[in-house]
Amino acid sequence: MNDTAMYYGSYLHLDKILHSQHPVSFEEGNEPAHDEMLFIVIHQAYELWFKQILFELDYAMGVFQKETINDNSEDLNLVRHRFRRIIKILELLNQQVNILDTMTPMDFLAFRNLLTPSSGFQSMQFRLIEAKLGLQMNNRHQKDYYKRTNEGGFTQPDFQTINTTENGKNLLQLVNNWLERMPFFDAAYWNNTASSDWQEHPFWKAYRAIYESGLTEREKSKLADFDYVFFEKNPEQANSELLAALKGSFSTAAMRAALFIMLYRDFPVFQTSYQLLDSLIEIDHLMSNWRHKHLIMVRRMIGMRVGTGNTSGAGYLEGALNKHYVYRDLSGLSTYLIERRKLPKLPETLTHHLGFRMG
Ligand code: HEM
Repeated sequence: MNDTAMYYGSYLHLDKILHSQHPVSFEEGNEPAHDEMLFIVIHQAYELWFKQILFELDYAMGVFQKETINDNSEDLNLVRHRFRRIIKILELLNQQVNILDTMTPMDFLAFRNLLTPSSGFQSMQFRLIEAKLGLQMNNRHQKDYYKRTNEGGFTQPDFQTINTTENGKNLLQLVNNWLERMPFFDAAYWNNTASSDWQEHPFWKAYRAIYESGLTEREKSKLADFDYVFFEKNPEQANSELLAALKGSFSTAAMRAALFIMLYRDFPVFQTSYQLLDSLIEIDHLMSNWRHKHLIMVRRMIGMRVGTGNTSGAGYLEGALNKHYVYRDLSGLSTYLIERRKLPKLPETLTHHLGFRMG
């Protein structure tokens, strides 16, 4: 064969990839542990998929970084398509836990001590995915764990990379800015009756009244939450705990646009934007599903022992599971939906501008 002809193995650099599995227990002086090979292969497979997820996230962030995005161009559609890809990969990563489950706790014990103090905790790519999605250091469970550069923590260069990424713009902020730019409520589309007081804006006034009339007696307090989330109006009996729970990562203006998109999602013009928001919610859920599956697997594998990375183990993972949602604000919008048949009819000027006609 011609030396320069493309060849499967060399194109894929299989010489490197397939020679990168080196079970420590196979080294001289140790007792070979059969399952260590699976343990290595599965981690490597995860890391390859993490790489692909980061690649897709970078693309999406590049689009949202543009000063203006033409909603009718291919840009947003490609982001939507690539978010779907991330979702499929995450579904696969959830499935992969089942393969690791074929290793029993005793099989794991055979080589576990040889791994100390390394741990999946140190997966830099996983941390970059979290950071790019928008997880901030201050919102991390037991954040001091992340600052360790001694044993069980990150190397200095990895720590640096994670920090630099965290300090840069993340997808959440970029999506927030994109939502803020939506012109839905401009006075020009509302017969110039829009008011700077959001509660007096024709759309919000009508919507708030419909929302209120749909609340049951027990749900009445939700109206104050509504006012806070969409108008930044502090609830009368607000304590700092309630405000902290309501205060999301998205701005009030972005929340208004996101709800509007969710409400009118069935109109073609909103389809792509809606699917983008829905994909972010789905990505968040799948990340969380993975954390849960990993936690259950860890409980079975090591019980209540501390992790090789020296966190409290299952206790730490449970805290991270509960706390590390990034797009909680978007999934929380369901609290403020109303029945489709009650949706306020939009003014002609707006529907015309957006390029669709209702009725
Ligand atoms: C026998 C199998 C496994 C056990 C017993 C295990 C155990 C643990 C424990 C105890 C932690 C907490 C940190 C620590 O103290 O070590 C952790 C974190 C982590 N592990 Fe695993 N793990 C296993 C497999 C995997 C696999 C296959 C992956 C895939 C990449 C993975 C990725 C992670 C990640 C990303 C974290 C950080 C999670 C977070 O901060 O929310 N682990 N693991």
